[in-house]
Amino acid sequence: MPGRICVLLVLLCLVSFCRGSEKPGEVLLVVACPPYPLQARNECSALSHSVLEQQRALVLAGIFSGDFVLKVHVMHELFNYWTLVDALPHLRAQARVLGARTEWIIWCQHNTRVTSLRGLLEQLRRQDPRELSFYGHALYDAEATIIHHFSNYQDPQRFPYPMLSAGVVFSGALLRRLADLVAPNGHNISLHSDFSIDASHELARFIFDNVSPHPHISTPISGGIMLKGASYICPTAASVPHRKVACVLHAQPEEPLTSLGQRRNGCQHTTGSHIYFAIKTCAKFHKERIPIIERTWAADARNRRYYSDVADASIPTIGTGIPNVQSGHCAKMMAILRLSLKDIGEQQDIHWLMLVDDDTLLSVPRLSVLLCRHNASELVYLGQRYGYRLHAPDGFNYHTGGAGIVLSMPLVRLIVERCSCPSASAPDDMILGYCLQALGVPAMPAAGLHQARPQDYAGELLQLQPPLSFHKFWNTDPEHTYRRWLGGSLVNRSAPLAPHQEQPAAGPLHTMMGRHSLAAGVGLLQETGLGKHLDL
Ligand SMILES: *[C@@H]1O[C@H](CO)[C@@H](O)[C@H](O)[C@H]1NC(C)=O
Ligand SMILES: *[C@@H]1O[C@H](CO)[C@@H](O)[C@H](O)[C@H]1NC(C)=O
Ligand SMILES: *[C@@H]1O[C@H](CO)[C@@H](O)[C@H](O)[C@H]1NC(C)=O
Repeated sequence: MPGRICVLLVLLCLVSFCRGSEKPGEVLLVVACPPYPLQARNECSALSHSVLEQQRALVLAGIFSGDFVLKVHVMHELFNYWTLVDALPHLRAQARVLGARTEWIIWCQHNTRVTSLRGLLEQLRRQDPRELSFYGHALYDAEATIIHHFSNYQDPQRFPYPMLSAGVVFSGALLRRLADLVAPNGHNISLHSDFSIDASHELARFIFDNVSPHPHISTPISGGIMLKGASYICPTAASVPHRKVACVLHAQPEEPLTSLGQRRNGCQHTTGSHIYFAIKTCAKFHKERIPIIERTWAADARNRRYYSDVADASIPTIGTGIPNVQSGHCAKMMAILRLSLKDIGEQQDIHWLMLVDDDTLLSVPRLSVLLCRHNASELVYLGQRYGYRLHAPDGFNYHTGGAGIVLSMPLVRLIVERCSCPSASAPDDMILGYCLQALGVPAMPAAGLHQARPQDYAGELLQLQPPLSFHKFWNTDPEHTYRRWLGGSLVNRSAPLAPHQEQPAAGPLHTMMGRHSLAAGVGLLQETGLGKHLDL
């Protein structure tokens, strides 16, 4: 809703009256604010208040008067547009906040902190606003990773992308160029993928692919603009000793989730026994993967059931009657939800159902603390949010399967009643997201759930909040991940462990194509006419 964009303040002419004809540059601070959780929204207003307070103090002290006009704008998420590139046309067209005079845009999130507005403005004065550039804390991948579409730059370790929560500074020249590029009547832009997974990497890649440092060449020939690392933008508040430059912008890590915090927040007491874990497996992984779950998080998950293509009493697994397929598992997911409802029956103490894969690792205690903040009597759909075709009218958000998808029990009943599969092998997680969007149930992102392995994420990001889940066992030691990253200690040594042989079938790309290929997505919407299959 455009009306939800509100310019909190268009202030403060620091221009001392009639100070020559030179107009001061405009600095726009945007707080990109997610709708959930409530706490994030409170942080957004706290951030904007803090900046305005600092500005008032500067004005009183007569510092920078005449140099800058500062605007602070809290941008609430519009529709599906949680990525910067998809939000830009709205920022420009509807809010009219990004103008021709804007020299700098400081793009913040709810967990960004501005510790010194004065220091920040001093830094801006040293940079050239006419240059097409953006500045941030640079993150690098250790190797090509699924969450970055296996971006095949020769050397992923050299492609910097910004840590969004630390804040990103764009020159007005660059942001205006981007806004032109993504305008509806826009240019011939290159979009690498229809999937939005990691907004920061996709943004850096979009700029690299579409913005040339030379104004006369519209498409970059040998690569475009790259993020500039800025030492005044930091991953945490803790300053490194002997820094030359103070941190003026930084990311604020989340308070660790504890059961003490659970009580303090006055939320509903939740433990692992309130959650029903529906684990999706298949015969070929019974011996390889289930023992790993049994040795790790199973100890905290009393209500766990393994749903497979084959019933095996020795584990036990429950047969879904759906043959295993390589690609999507829509029919299997729907069968799992139906069978789970039957299995749960009248048990009143089960409030949540979590769908996970047989190669998902979890911290059940941390998950319980997260869930206590949500009302299990309402329609709640939590997970790691991805987007599909967010730039288009048919775009939607969905929670990716491997990270774990949490559903409140009323929502499970609604899904079983109202959603169906366009084809048995349609991508289960995407169909679920599509159906829930049609039913008006938002995909609430839960920070800490991860679709990939710890090494697929920059270390700075993993420090931001205690991880809740990881996914995929290949090229990694799951028990180590469980202890090191998920705080697990209760490894069930009595569970037999098969030698771990699993390898990616044909390199990582295979994994990508199996689950989230572009072809599957396009097919999903175009060939099957998905809408017809929803009983709405
Ligand atoms: C858009 O890009 C494609 C592929 O690079 C090219 O074939 C086409 O001519 C371009 N169209 C315009 C209008 O520039
Ligand atoms: C440990 O594993 C064994 C064998 O799989 C199983 O019978 C037992 O219930 C597990 N213990 C816990 C606490 O999960
Ligand atoms: C939870 O949601 C239900 C249904 O909307 C409502 O009746 C109840 O008051 C809510 N509980 C809390 C603690 O907000």
